[in-house]
Amino acid sequence: MVHDAYGALEFLELREIDLPALGDDAVMVRVQAAGLHVGDCFGVRGEPFAMRLVSGLLRPRYGVPGFDLAGRVHAVGRNVKRFQPGDEVFGVCEGSCAEYARAGENQLALKPESLTLEEAAALPTSALAALHGLRDAGKLRAGQKVLINGASGGVGTFAVQIAKALGAEVTGVCSTANVALVRSLGADHVVDYTREDFTQRAERYDLVLDSVENRSLSECRRLLTPGGTLLLNSGTGAQGMDMLIRLVKPLLVSPFVRQNLRRYLSTPNHEDLVVLKDLVASGKLRPVIDQTYPLAGTVKALRHIEGGHARGKVVVTV
Ligand SMILES: NC(=O)c1ccc[n+]([C@@H]2O[C@H](COP(=O)([O-])OP(=O)(O)OC[C@H]3O[C@@H](n4cnc5c(N)ncnc54)[C@H](OP(=O)(O)O)[C@@H]3O)[C@@H](O)[C@H]2O)c1
Repeated sequence: MVHDAYGALEFLELREIDLPALGDDAVMVRVQAAGLHVGDCFGVRGEPFAMRLVSGLLRPRYGVPGFDLAGRVHAVGRNVKRFQPGDEVFGVCEGSCAEYARAGENQLALKPESLTLEEAAALPTSALAALHGLRDAGKLRAGQKVLINGASGGVGTFAVQIAKALGAEVTGVCSTANVALVRSLGADHVVDYTREDFTQRAERYDLVLDSVENRSLSECRRLLTPGGTLLLNSGTGAQGMDMLIRLVKPLLVSPFVRQNLRRYLSTPNHEDLVVLKDLVASGKLRPVIDQTYPLAGTVKALRHIEGGHARGKVVVTV
């Protein structure tokens, strides 16, 4: 699936293109499944504009959407040590909505044996965002209380399970239709936001992971213990200047309050993909797949994600 210009999702078309050059340090993967997330929609639309700093300022440099993949190693560059042709892998690449994709050696790991390729492709970006948020940015420890807003989404379904694996008491926030799902993932408490305003709860939390960002900073702060942390993981619920204010305000306020208000960026790496693989092997992590689409259905898959109510992950099979 390729787009030659930024704009509508419908700019994507299915056509033959040349294989990307392999290079000495990269791995060429025969893609069998591509996991999608909202960042792929941003990449096709070229909005927020900052996305273009990576993918090309005026027009997309490569133009194939998709970061997450699972598949079989087709070829390896001469400096690659960890993988060989035939290995089944999962990880992050440039352009997974294609038959072949090139990935850095450090952005792949061997596929968890108990998962299908579709399930493995659902893991990388969203599960790493949950892991990096909770373990690294949020420094979540056993016995602490964490609230996850957006618990039924791509990041949230992993965050609930990873927070439980870290030993926390977990409260998930989602809509009525997803209450049973979030409970089945291990959440100790589930708040249905259509019936209860979660920001008005009496409970206080050591950590709030907000993957929705549809509430004001002061509403979210009142949920925190005096030394608690608010981890903001979206910033996409607003446009233009409002979005800039939403992105920057918590960082400006944080130095003047006891609570820690922060954003974070999750960067994929081999070691943490292995952490995910181990969590899967120990039965503590499993992807929830909402829908699977064929490659030609990529536009429909991205539209489904843009709807903002995906139940877990959306995957394209190649
Ligand atoms: N920091 C990083 O490195 C990083 C990495 C990956 C993603 N992200 C960001 O993480 C964010 C979440 O991504 P995602 O893939 O999890 O999104 P998603 O799959 O679209 O999930 C959306 C979630 O929002 C909930 N939601 C929708 N409308 C709501 C409302 N009115 N009130 C409360 N909840 C509502 C949905 O719950 P219901 O369906 O139950 O309503 C669902 O749980 C995105 O903004 C993405 O950019 C950041």
